[in-house]
Formats: sequence, structure tokens, C-alpha cells
Amino acid sequence: MTDMQQLEQWDRENFFHPSTHLSDFAHGKAPERILETAEGVYITDKQGRRLLDGFAGLYCVNVGYGRKQVSDAVAAQANKLAYYHSYVGHGTEASITLSKMILERMPSHMSRIYYGLSGSDANETNIKMVWYYNNVLDRPQKKKIISRWRGYHGSGLMTGSLTGLEVFHNQFDLPLSPVVHTDAPYYFHRENNEQTERQFSAQCAASLEDLILKEGPETVAAFIGEPVLGTGGIVPPPEGYWEAIQAVLQKYDVLFIADEVVTGFGRLGSMTGSEHYGLKPDIITLAKGMTSAYAPLSGSVISDKVWKVLEEGTAKLGPIGHGWTYSAHPICAAAGIANLKLVDEMNLLANAGEVGAYLTQSMQQAIGDHPQVGDVRGEGMLCALEFVEEKASRKLYDPVGKIGPQIAAALLKRNVIGRAMPHGDILGLAPPLCLSKAEADIIVDAMKEAVDEVYA
Ligand SMILES: Cc1ncc(COP(=O)(O)O)c(C=O)c1O
Repeated sequence: MTDMQQLEQWDRENFFHPSTHLSDFAHGKAPERILETAEGVYITDKQGRRLLDGFAGLYCVNVGYGRKQVSDAVAAQANKLAYYHSYVGHGTEASITLSKMILERMPSHMSRIYYGLSGSDANETNIKMVWYYNNVLDRPQKKKIISRWRGYHGSGLMTGSLTGLEVFHNQFDLPLSPVVHTDAPYYFHRENNEQTERQFSAQCAASLEDLILKEGPETVAAFIGEPVLGTGGIVPPPEGYWEAIQAVLQKYDVLFIADEVVTGFGRLGSMTGSEHYGLKPDIITLAKGMTSAYAPLSGSVISDKVWKVLEEGTAKLGPIGHGWTYSAHPICAAAGIANLKLVDEMNLLANAGEVGAYLTQSMQQAIGDHPQVGDVRGEGMLCALEFVEEKASRKLYDPVGKIGPQIAAALLKRNVIGRAMPHGDILGLAPPLCLSKAEADIIVDAMKEAVDEVYA
């Protein structure tokens, strides 16, 4: 047995992989890939196969792979002070500096950052803070959280409940009862062909208002949404959507959590999705692009309005009963600082805006006319193609989910990684923000060939 075969065997026998067909994998029927090195937008596996990573890992390696500035910062911090906790006022130069750098990059009404390690745990923190907030304000019944179908907010107990994709609920006894779901802002899936984007947005807002009234505004604490729907299909909001939604939230005193795990730190060509769309969230969730995944780190950014109440709470009740051992881990904070400096130095916000728009336009020109390509959409360095059975009526495949994986497989044959999004026939792209136009051309050419092959 070669070393490689040994590794593959150990993998199938010992490793519980997330989001994987467990029995197929265990019995050698699902592929495995063992990665070894990476540079820029390319990853190389142990067999020496080099792939253009059109999804930046899980839309997280924003600065690209192999950036020594970040890995050196990680090593230096590990050598100097690998760990200390951040409970009862402890900090490190790295965690304090990063907090300042992040708050400078957030909307001006944001006040503090709490650190976690994943987008999921950050959203768990957010919900706890919303509940604490309403308890301090003596509104113990105001606890329900409204999320959207097709939203993605993690896969913990609460965050898996917030996620509006059935595959994350089925057989897990989710969603938990304090979570209710409202309509996805998915204009391409509208029922009424005549509706304009603005009319559709107004309908989403009206439906949210109906839900709040049905549940009772005195029981609804918060609404959570991604500025651009991510895992649910990479769907930019229709015109007027956020304006209409925020008006409803204000009317019923419902807090707004903007989940910027994907959109934070440049993916849309702006520092945040909140800045991009003029949002005024009460809490912002950050992760992924905060360290470009060189180390696990997430953040819950709390607005002045909520922070004041949290302070008031501890004045009455004593120290807040919330914390993780690894909150503000110094190695992760060092990665964050180096990463954010690199985002500025490499001018990645501008590149994401420019090359991202080029990628989506080129995709539209190359295959937008294909009879089975129903939609080509994008915002910044996010792009998606949705495949349909019939173009004119936007008729989706039934059941959904057969074509997306075939396109992803055909793309992979051409050494490009795209992601078959988990619900629908949607091929998603979210390359590193450093993608060049030449690399965008490679993706588009491979996609055109992949689509031709699948529909041959
Ligand atoms: C918008 C959003 N929120 C939360 C999460 C969960 O983050 P994690 O996988 O780090 O727990 C994700 C992950 O993709 C995400 O896209």
C-alpha cells in the first residue's frame, strides 16, 4: 500500500466529514480529495492536481492562499504568546488592536465586538444578546427571531434553526420554537411574472409585517438576514428590498441582525454589505473574511443602542454570563490584523467590485443565452447561474438538485472549483477577492464547456 492509499484509508475509516454522504464516503463511493498546498487562487492536491478555487474554500479565503504576511504574523504570535483568555478584562495587543481596526471598518453606530470562532457561534451569541437585551428592558415575552427561508446562519441548534434550508432541519428536530421564517427575497422565483422588483420587495415587506402581526409584535425580538442571500442561492436583494424591510422592523421595534459572514470585508466591493446597501443593523455577524480563514475567528458587532442596554444589565446583574475559552484567541487576532492590512494593501475592495462585475458580465455574454440558463446574477465577487427546465416560464427542475452537481463535476474536470448550492440547480462562484481578469476568463471558459457537456 502506498502512503497515499494509507491516508485515503485512514480518511474513510476515521474522519467524520461535514456535509458529506456518510455511507457513500465510508464505502469508497464518494470522492475524497486530500489537499496539500495552495497559492493565490489555486489549490493543489496530494496527487499534484492544480485547481482554480472559484469558491475561495467556503467563500472565506478572501486574500488568496499562501500569503506569507498572514502566516508569518500567526507564527510570530504563536512564538510570543500563543494563548491567554479574554475573560474579566484580559486582552492582548493583538486582540485590542484588531478590535480597533474592525470598529473603524464598521458603520459608525457600532460600538463593541465580541469574538467567537465561527459564524455559527457568533450568531448563537447574537441571539443570546437579543434575549438578554429584552430581559433587561423588562420585555421577557419579546423573544422570537424571524429568519428567512433560504437564509443561512450556521448549523448549531439555534443557528441551524435560523437557517432556512430544510436539509439543515430534517431529522435534527429543528427549527426550535422561538424561530419563525418569512419569505426569501428571491425575485427570480416570483410567482407573478408581471411583478417589478420593487413590487416584489413590497410584497416581501408586507408578508414580514403580516407575520409580525400574527405572532404579536410584543413577542418578536429580532430579524436576521444576509445582505445578499448566500448558501440559499447567491441572490442579491431585489430593488427596494432592504429599505422596505427595515421600515417594518423599525415600526415594530424589532432588532435587525445583519449576518455579514460572507459579505463582510470586501466581497461585495464595499467594506460591508451594510455600507453597500445602506443598512442600519443593531448587530453585525462577522467571520470568514476577517482572517481569510488563516485562523478561525468570528465577531458579533454590537451597536451603541444595544451596548447601552447590555451595560445597564451588568450594572444590575453583575458580569455577563457568556464566554468561550478561545474568544479573541491571540493567534487568530494576529491573523486578523495581518489579513485586514493585506486587504487594504492589495486594494481588494476595488478589485472585488471590478473583477467581480467583469466575471458576471462575461458569464452573461458567454452563456446567458443558453436555453437552460435561467439566470446569471451576481454582486461584487459573487456570481451564480441558475439552471431551469424552461427558460421563458422560469420553470425549475422537479425535483431540484440534479443539474447543479453535474455542472460542478463537469467544471471540476476542467480544473475549476464551483459550488453546487445545496438547494436548487444553482452553480455558485465566490473566488478569492484577488482574482484577476485572466483568471475570471479561465472560469468562464470552463463553465461554458461544462454547460455544453452536461446538456450535450
Ligand atoms: C451568512 C453565514 N452565516 C453564518 C455562517 C456559519 O459560519 P460557520 O460555518 O463558520 O459556522 C455561514 C457559513 O457559511 C454563512 O454563510
